[in-house]
Amino acid sequence: IKVYIPRDSASISLGADKVARAIAFEAARRGATIELVRNGSRGMFWLEPMVEVSTPEGRVAYGPVKPDDVAELFEADFLYGGQHHLNLGLTEDIPYFAKQQRLTFARVGITDPVSIDDYLAHDGYRGLANALKMTPADIVEEVTTSGLRGRGGAAFPTGIKWRTVLGAQADQKYIVCNADEGDSGTFSDRMIMEGDPLVLIEGMTIAGLAVGATMGYIYLRSEYPYAEVALNEAIAAANARGYLGDDILGSGKTFHLEVRRGAGAYVCGEETSLLESLEGKRGMVRFKPPLPALEGLFGKPTVVNNVISLASVPIILDQGGANYQEYGVGRSRGTLPFQLAGNIKYGGLVEAAFGLSIRELLYDFGGGSRTGRPIRAVQIGGPLGAYVPESQFDLPLDYEELGKNDAMLGHGGLVVFDDTVDMAQMARFGMEFCAIESCGKCTPCRIGSTRGVEVIDRMVEGKDRPKQVILLRELCDTMLSGSLCALGGMAPFPVLSALNHFPEDFGLAEPADK
Ligand code: NAI
Ligand code: SF4
Repeated sequence: IKVYIPRDSASISLGADKVARAIAFEAARRGATIELVRNGSRGMFWLEPMVEVSTPEGRVAYGPVKPDDVAELFEADFLYGGQHHLNLGLTEDIPYFAKQQRLTFARVGITDPVSIDDYLAHDGYRGLANALKMTPADIVEEVTTSGLRGRGGAAFPTGIKWRTVLGAQADQKYIVCNADEGDSGTFSDRMIMEGDPLVLIEGMTIAGLAVGATMGYIYLRSEYPYAEVALNEAIAAANARGYLGDDILGSGKTFHLEVRRGAGAYVCGEETSLLESLEGKRGMVRFKPPLPALEGLFGKPTVVNNVISLASVPIILDQGGANYQEYGVGRSRGTLPFQLAGNIKYGGLVEAAFGLSIRELLYDFGGGSRTGRPIRAVQIGGPLGAYVPESQFDLPLDYEELGKNDAMLGHGGLVVFDDTVDMAQMARFGMEFCAIESCGKCTPCRIGSTRGVEVIDRMVEGKDRPKQVILLRELCDTMLSGSLCALGGMAPFPVLSALNHFPEDFGLAEPADK
């Protein structure tokens, strides 16, 4: 009998390892033969550690399971799907899960993350098999047709980026995966690297074939040790079975892959400082142009893509770009793994087609705030994203619609706040975060952010508020237009959104003087 217990960091932090040990111990004590599979999380964190067992009807879930529950679960015949107050029914029928459209995350929580056989049994490596029969230009065309755009936040069309690298002449090209997932409230990169690392490896291999790159690096943030273990195990398994290396599946094509660990700087998620860091230098932002697509790692043409962008490629090559682009709205095609965090009842990962509203995500999936109080604001797109007020909760989650409303989708993380939040302090935090994380290369960000904290402090203290508002707006304007990269360039988003939507928290009469 197969028993599934997640091995991802969220579940482990909630006690999954202890539960796994307790189940192994209890099974041995009772003479029950079980096969423990350490899978990825299904992304319903309030139910973790969630234990699943295979039954003829499908997998039955139990959760959240504590080590002390284990003996009782055995008594209740949980190995055969027996009744117990922790029995959640068939996993696939849990509404939070059943309502999703899982394309990129199709296997997460289902397979053993580092088993090639399990991966193959669940449609893995079908995209690569197709790609090996195609010309590089045709692979790029398929990705272009899919409408896939950069999932790291900037939403640049992946196919166009790849075309630039394919067209560049060089003796060496690289694929670099940006796994420096630094945004607050985001964990989709981590979940896929821990729960289905082979899909990322397959996506990077396809990218290599598409642009003519033979070497790939995954730049992984140091805060993700479990992802590092899973990635390295999966890379070793892929090498051993001929899915990576000098002669991929006998095709004569080469692709090697290595993991590199970052050192904890938020700015190293910016692609050029990531490349500097990969080259062994201090993570400072480079001027663009030249684009990394033309002069990237070690000066060679380089594809730099986010984890989710690359992990979305296998299904596109498997089922076709035309199929993928049928999901979504407007220019936002396909699905996005949204991440619900902060003060939310049902936090976790929801993969859905673009276009559902913020309200649907917060209430139909998230169940409202964890405290039960009204949700006052939600920050979308990381610490540099705007605070969206309740009056905008009916906006659809798509790149353009949010952009039109001075907000942004970014990497798809939502951090929820109830009505006890002090928005002036949140604005201050935006500036403070920028001051701490600034690489220091340009003045608007390096100095502007520190001055920003001071101005907000003076506003809160009530020192000549009208003058401070003018100063703060001018400062934000300078940072928006004068910063070299998105860190300084976007820090004004949380500040201005807080000021515009919640002026009363700054001691200002409504509406704020714009
Ligand atoms: P960008 O708009 O400058 O570039 C987007 C991408 O397109 C880059 O990879 C760039 O090299 C590429 N590109 C642009 N023109 C190209 C062309 N003609 N051919 C080939 N490639 C081309 O955006 P940037 O500064 O790289 O990223 C900013 C975004 O990062 C923000 O929107 C923010 O949402 C996101 N972000 C994500 C974080 C995370 O943790 N995932 C953290 C912080 C910011
Ligand atoms: Fe560095 Fe900030 Fe300038 Fe970006 S905006 S280059 S992080 S100083």
